[in-house]
Amino acid sequence: METKIVSMTEEQPDREALRLAGEILQKGGLVAFPTETVYGLGGDALNPESSKKIYAAKGRPSDNPLIVHIANMEALKKIVKEIPREAYLLADAFWPGPMTMVLPKSDAVPYETTGGLETVAVRMPVHKTALELIECSGGYIAAPSANTSGKPSPTLAKYVIEDLAGKIDMIIDGGFVGIGLESTIIDLTTTPPQILRPGYITEEMLQKVLGKVEWDQAIIDADSKQAPRAPGMKYRHYAPKGELTIVAGPEADVIAYINRHVEEDEQKGEKTGVIATSESAAGYRAQVVRVVGSISNEEEIARNLYGVLREFDEDGVTRIYSEGFWKEGLGEAIMNRLLKAAGHKVVWVGNNK
Ligand code: TXA
Ligand code: MG
Repeated sequence: METKIVSMTEEQPDREALRLAGEILQKGGLVAFPTETVYGLGGDALNPESSKKIYAAKGRPSDNPLIVHIANMEALKKIVKEIPREAYLLADAFWPGPMTMVLPKSDAVPYETTGGLETVAVRMPVHKTALELIECSGGYIAAPSANTSGKPSPTLAKYVIEDLAGKIDMIIDGGFVGIGLESTIIDLTTTPPQILRPGYITEEMLQKVLGKVEWDQAIIDADSKQAPRAPGMKYRHYAPKGELTIVAGPEADVIAYINRHVEEDEQKGEKTGVIATSESAAGYRAQVVRVVGSISNEEEIARNLYGVLREFDEDGVTRIYSEGFWKEGLGEAIMNRLLKAAGHKVVWVGNNK
C-alpha cells in the first residue's frame, strides 16, 4: 500500500489534506496524526473493521483496547452508557488535554475497539490538527500510539514512517509533539477512581478534582502477579533493541558503576550507550552518551525520552545504561516508561544499596 505523507502545523492547517484524511477514515482506512502526547494511529472507532486494521498494522494483540478520541462533549454521550459526575468534573479541568477516562461503553462502540471490554477509554486531545481531523472524520477516532507494538511511541513523524509506511493510508507530519509521553489514564468505573497509567496530568492534579484516587496495584508493585487493569500495561513496551539497565544511587556512584561496566562490555565487543542528564553527561566514557535533558527539568526529559531510546537503535548500541529519575509528579510517568523499557532491570549502588 502506498502511504501518502502530508505536512502541516497547528497554526497552518492544510484543510484539503484534512478533508481527504477524514474521507479515508470514514471509508475504513487508517491515518496517523500528531497529538500533544505522541503520534496516534487513527481509524474509525465505531467501525469494527477499522479497529481490526489498526491491530494488524501495529502487530498489536487484539485484547489490548484502543483509546477513542473525540472533539466535543456531545460525542461522549454517544459512546458512554452513563456519564458520572466525576467525568464532567475531570473534563472541565483537563479536556481538551492529555487525560484519558475509562467509562462504561454504550452499544455504539464495537468490542473490536475495546478489546472485548464493557468499558471504553476516551480522550479529547488539545492538539488542533488532531481535533480538526476528528471533526472531519465523523467524530470518533480510535487511536493507539503510532508505533509497531513494543517499540517506543513516536514523538516525530519520521518514527511513524519507520514503523508504518506501506501499512497505512496516510501520515500527517505535524513536527515534534509537545509532551512526549502518552496520556494519563484514569478509570472512573471503580471507587475510588484508579490511575491505570501515569502521565502529564499527575496524581496530585487528579486528587484536587476527585478527592481520593488510587493507583492500579500492578503499577505500584512491578513484581505483582496481578494483571494490570489497563491490558496494554502488561506488555513489554518502549523497548530499545539494546539491553537497558537502570542504575540508581548517588551520582558519583552511578557514574563509577556505569563506567566500570561500559569498559567490561566493550572488551566483550558490545557497543555501549548511556542515557545521561546535561549535568552528568561529561562524566561518562561510553561510546554513545545521549543527553535526555536537565535533571531539574522533567518536562524536557519526558519530551526526549522516546527519541533517545530510538536513536540508540539507529546507532546499533547493544548495551544501554540509564540514570534513574525518581520524582513525584511527571517523574512518575517518566520512570514508569523507563522501567518498562528496561524490563524492570534496576541496579542500586552506593549508600542506597
Ligand atoms: O496519549 C495517548 O493516550 C496516545 C495518543 C495517541 O492519544 N494513545 C495511546 O494509546 O497511548 P495506546 O493504545 O498506545 O495505549 C492505550 C492504553 C493501553 O494500555 C490500553 O490497555 C489502555 O489504554 N486502555 C484502553 N482502553 C481501556 C479500557 N477500556 N480499560 C482499561 N484500559 C484501557
Ligand atoms: Mg502505545
